[in-house]
Amino acid sequence: MPEPIRIFDTTLRDGEQSPGFSMTPEEKLRLAHPLEELGVDVLEAGFPIASEGDFLAVQTIARECRQTSVAALARAVEADIRRAGDALRPAARPLLHTFIATSDIHLQHKLKRTRAQVVADTYTAVRLAREYADEVEFSAEDATRSDRDFLLEVLAAALEAGATVLNIPDTVGYSVPHEYAALIAFLRERLPGVDKAILSVHCHDDLGLAVANSLAALAAGARQVECAINGIGERAGNASLEEVVMALRVRADALPYVTRIRTEKIYPVSLQLAEITGIGVQPNKAIVGRNAFAHTAGIHQDGMLKSPLTYEIMTPSTVGIASSQLLLGKHSGRHALQARLEQLGWRVEREQLDAVYQAFLQVADRQKLVADDCLRDIALGAGLAQLPGPAPAAHSSAVATQ
Ligand code: KIV
Ligand code: ZN
Repeated sequence: MPEPIRIFDTTLRDGEQSPGFSMTPEEKLRLAHPLEELGVDVLEAGFPIASEGDFLAVQTIARECRQTSVAALARAVEADIRRAGDALRPAARPLLHTFIATSDIHLQHKLKRTRAQVVADTYTAVRLAREYADEVEFSAEDATRSDRDFLLEVLAAALEAGATVLNIPDTVGYSVPHEYAALIAFLRERLPGVDKAILSVHCHDDLGLAVANSLAALAAGARQVECAINGIGERAGNASLEEVVMALRVRADALPYVTRIRTEKIYPVSLQLAEITGIGVQPNKAIVGRNAFAHTAGIHQDGMLKSPLTYEIMTPSTVGIASSQLLLGKHSGRHALQARLEQLGWRVEREQLDAVYQAFLQVADRQKLVADDCLRDIALGAGLAQLPGPAPAAHSSAVATQ
């Protein structure tokens, strides 16, 4: 039986913290509903001590989103925890998330605290957090650059104080998959009582390894993945929710885990985030980029027209995208050109195809993509006859295959 994995969405907290992605409480609420419908297990709504707006956002989301756990972030200090606890008061399932750094780099340069003080702070913070919520997550910030024995000591204090989730962040995206998996395995082996808590991973993408590290950690025993829509988050971002979830779904043979995510809602949520923040994803972004299901090379288009299995490992509808697209450009072949002309209502006789294709290539050599109105001119110039039936919708420059 595949093991269930909790998806902890931090789009509205770590994601929102990154440059250009800040959202008003209303905007956060607008995105919280679709995230809940997407099926995330935990929705981290903000960092209430950071601003009045973030307090309000967490409070409103806690009041309105009843199907999911709502989380609020707090440093391991009393004022933060009380503020986060107050914001979470209306929640059906509150999760208080408290953190402190555990690497010597952070202790010496940022916190100016000794190791003993950090252990004590952890214990006190988690104890206080438990007064506000039955679910308390403790994060050891910069865990992957921390001394392992010290990390054990801090996590033991968090467990003893009542933490229900232990999160092991790769805060600066420094780890590599086998090393991160080994860290999770080490904690599972060496931390007494580790089974009382869920082990969670939170990976940043500074080396482009956030998703790979998260997946590697699952094999070593982690059971919660923290991630964000479109991979947004501090600096290079967090592990992308859609990539983690679809890797688990598409490669269920190699990764025996399941999530509760309704994958067909992924693309609409990705678009909504882009619309709210004004920042879209790069065209070649996995799963949700505009090229993720687009094909321009002639050999690929020919394969796609014969069977989408040739060049697609998932159907676009699985992630809420209407269809694949065969975009017509200079790399396209006769087969795709003919298919699009026929979709546009033109009959292409076998002996006409070569001449039409040459005319098409002349246009394609001058412009990146050949739009439907250009195809119509090419069809008219080549003297193609129109097929009977209603005129197709204009201005779509791609062949739909599914
Ligand atoms: O990256 C990080 O360490 C964090 C923690 C607050 C979980 O975002
Ligand atoms: Zn983070």
